[in-house]
Amino acid sequence: MAVIPVDIAGRPYEVRVGAGLLAELVEHCRGRLRKRHVPIITDANVHRAWGEVVETALRGSGHEPHWRILPAGETTKSWEELAATVNWLLANEVERGDHILALGGGVIGDLTGFAAAIVKRGCHFIQLPTSLLAQVDSSVGGKTAINAPMGKNLVGAFHQPSLVLADLAALDTLSERELRAGYAEVVKYGLIGDPDFFAWCDANGAAMLAGDASLREYAVAHSVAHKARIVAEDERETTGTRALLNLGHTFGHALEAETGFSDRLLHGEAVALGMVLAARFSARRGLMPRASAEHVARHFSETGLPGELSTLGLGCDGKALAAHMLHDKKMDAGTLPFVLMKGIGHAFLDRDVALDEVAAFLDEQLAGG
Ligand code: GLY
Repeated sequence: MAVIPVDIAGRPYEVRVGAGLLAELVEHCRGRLRKRHVPIITDANVHRAWGEVVETALRGSGHEPHWRILPAGETTKSWEELAATVNWLLANEVERGDHILALGGGVIGDLTGFAAAIVKRGCHFIQLPTSLLAQVDSSVGGKTAINAPMGKNLVGAFHQPSLVLADLAALDTLSERELRAGYAEVVKYGLIGDPDFFAWCDANGAAMLAGDASLREYAVAHSVAHKARIVAEDERETTGTRALLNLGHTFGHALEAETGFSDRLLHGEAVALGMVLAARFSARRGLMPRASAEHVARHFSETGLPGELSTLGLGCDGKALAAHMLHDKKMDAGTLPFVLMKGIGHAFLDRDVALDEVAAFLDEQLAGG
């Protein structure tokens, strides 16, 4: 098992990464589950796959799980599900000192974390991420949110978990597509600031996706360690360091909006293509060698992720895609900061990008580059 500390001043916690952690849940949560009843929020798919393991672990130590099983999917991150979940926690007499368990992917972690942030002005929660994306990104760092009619993650709070248990066995129950989508966020750490890790992904990504256990542990632990360093330095995204984690997300978000946040393009797939676009846009501006940008595109295509905008069949122009970016929550006094690259492993925040230039670039990409 790998143990990664997240050193946030006053609220440090650990991310533990290993196979079988859900079965050993109570041991890892020692001292935190102070009552017999344990509130646990999950979705129907994850409950089907992991409900029994968690139920057995809790009951085996004299606890009684109180399950709240939500519908699987992004629509669960709504005001309605949040209100119902908060009321359910209150009806279950959750106190500030109690810990709520979030068992699932990013949707469950984000919704549960936000509910924990606002119930009685804040109680504790423990992240039990079951998707690769949640293990390497969303469960770490305390960003919690729901979606609003105007866009994704527009309502939320920074609220750190007290513990994250990333059980690598959960990755075995993901579909290949979901696993690959999460892998995009692994590669992101290499592209942001760790060229050696991108080279590692080039050499080992395919085998890791195919199921090699030690490569999976390395990929998850290395990604979490990178994120932990960033979050410890810039918890609330005020200095610009944490904003680098948005590499590919501004382009990706526009693609998700254009495809209706549907299964047509999963978040991780949109981020992979978004990172290719960020790399090519950086090359177009003369910041990064064209060959490096094409290396990024090739890596994603070779690992089964989208690397070409022209193959999506979007039927819109660059201006329409750029228009989605206006609703981005990172808009700052009329400008949208973009994470660009000066090379693989050298991301930076550029606050001087005109959306007209982005639209013209996207027109080129839609036409096949
Ligand atoms: N997923 C981006 C962040 O946690 O800042």
